[in-house]
Amino acid sequence: MAEDKALIKVNGKEIELPLVKGTEEEIGIDISSLRSASGGVVTLDPGYKNTGATESAITFLDGDKGILSYRGYSIEELAEKSNFVEVQYLLLNGELPNKTQYEAFEKRLTEHSLVHEDMKKFFDGYPSHSHPMGQLGSMICALSAFYPNSLDPNRPESDREKSMMRLLAKMPTIVAMIYKNYMGHPYIYPNNSLGYVENFMNMTFGMPTQDTEIDPVIVDAMDKLLILHADHEQNCSTSTVRMVGSSHANLYASVSSGISALWGPLHGGANQKVLEMLDMIIADGGNIEKYVAKAKDKDDPFKLFGFGHRVYKNFDPRARIIKKASDNVLGKLGINDPALDVAKKLEAIALEDDYFVSRKLYPNVDFYSGIIYKAMGFPTQMFTVLFALGRLPGWIAQWKEMRDTKQPIGRPRQIYTGQNARPFVEMSKR
Ligand SMILES: CC(C)(COP(=O)(O)OP(=O)(O)OC[C@H]1O[C@@H](n2cnc3c(N)ncnc32)[C@H](O)[C@@H]1OP(=O)(O)O)[C@@H](O)C(=O)NCCC(=O)NCCS
Repeated sequence: MAEDKALIKVNGKEIELPLVKGTEEEIGIDISSLRSASGGVVTLDPGYKNTGATESAITFLDGDKGILSYRGYSIEELAEKSNFVEVQYLLLNGELPNKTQYEAFEKRLTEHSLVHEDMKKFFDGYPSHSHPMGQLGSMICALSAFYPNSLDPNRPESDREKSMMRLLAKMPTIVAMIYKNYMGHPYIYPNNSLGYVENFMNMTFGMPTQDTEIDPVIVDAMDKLLILHADHEQNCSTSTVRMVGSSHANLYASVSSGISALWGPLHGGANQKVLEMLDMIIADGGNIEKYVAKAKDKDDPFKLFGFGHRVYKNFDPRARIIKKASDNVLGKLGINDPALDVAKKLEAIALEDDYFVSRKLYPNVDFYSGIIYKAMGFPTQMFTVLFALGRLPGWIAQWKEMRDTKQPIGRPRQIYTGQNARPFVEMSKR
């Protein structure tokens, strides 16, 4: 039917391209036949602003309406009624677990939580204050050395599943080790009697010299933060994981590359930048208007970190939930953080200012998350690592979907703009 097709004219030749419709009525033009039908013409879309790289059944996001859901469940409901372990299961398996499935999954997460003792030696090579994201990327890639079976792209399904469980189970242990190394404190081993998030907090803030009880308010807030970060469809780091995995690179290497992509300040690294920005504004006398003016000035490289998003042109629904959680955590812990006051004032000004309003620049997930991480006691440089801990099930689920649907190797085209063919010039004649 004509309405199921897009018609384009290339150099006078009409080409019909099929439309693809998603379950939420999103429409895409399937251009896979374009190149052959047009005699070599390709599409050009820097930054993939208009390009769908894949069909996916994991996460739905409507940036104009501010909607985010995992496997059909809204982020608001999941943040309120679920927990991170259940969300991990949901992302990987497509359905919420029943009680038996949940308990079996949780048990497997504890069974794989120890890391090989040799991994401790890696930390000896790092300067103690080297950035935690650099350490995390190499530690996760290094897991492939301990589990060489993972290198076989065609290994049995049960083996592949084991790699995924290992990675989910070991990530909190590795993140906590990075924190301990950063602080110069002794490592705390995983404790199977604790839940996933509580265990992570215990490995991080526990001390061998005394019993540590982690405030349930903090465990609860961390659980929520991890749920909010768990997946975000085809963002920069997830696309990287898929791209690297599409060459049949192993899971650990693929996720490690996602960690590198997340590190950048335009992506996950923004949560660290937000806190540094708020501290800078406070240190400079708290003149918020000055920094809003700087962000608007095109000749000034300064931008408001934590504002703007490639796909949200409305309030980021995660930011709404985090803002409430940060009030809750700081209130319950009795913390009065001037950074939160500056953040609120900054947000109020920006939401009224025509520059931000006309460009639909709203606070994103990173704007408030750092304030909670800080209240929990994490150093600023650890913030993006915590984002990675949350995003891990999403990366794994997307990697698995990419392999299960037999996606071809990712290999974009280009439009060449360099020199035309020319003869080589001998060095003596240059
Ligand atoms: C997230 C981000 C990279 C999205 O980029 P994008 O989709 O390519 O959008 P653009 O950079 O083209 O931004 C559109 C316009 O808004 C402006 N803008 C975007 N974010 C801005 C910010 N944080 N502060 C000031 N201006 C901003 C751009 O300068 C551009 O203005 P112009 O149209 O006059 O040229 C961008 O908003 C950003 O850098 N934000 C800060 C970093 C951040 O918080 N990242 C975390 C994302 S979860």
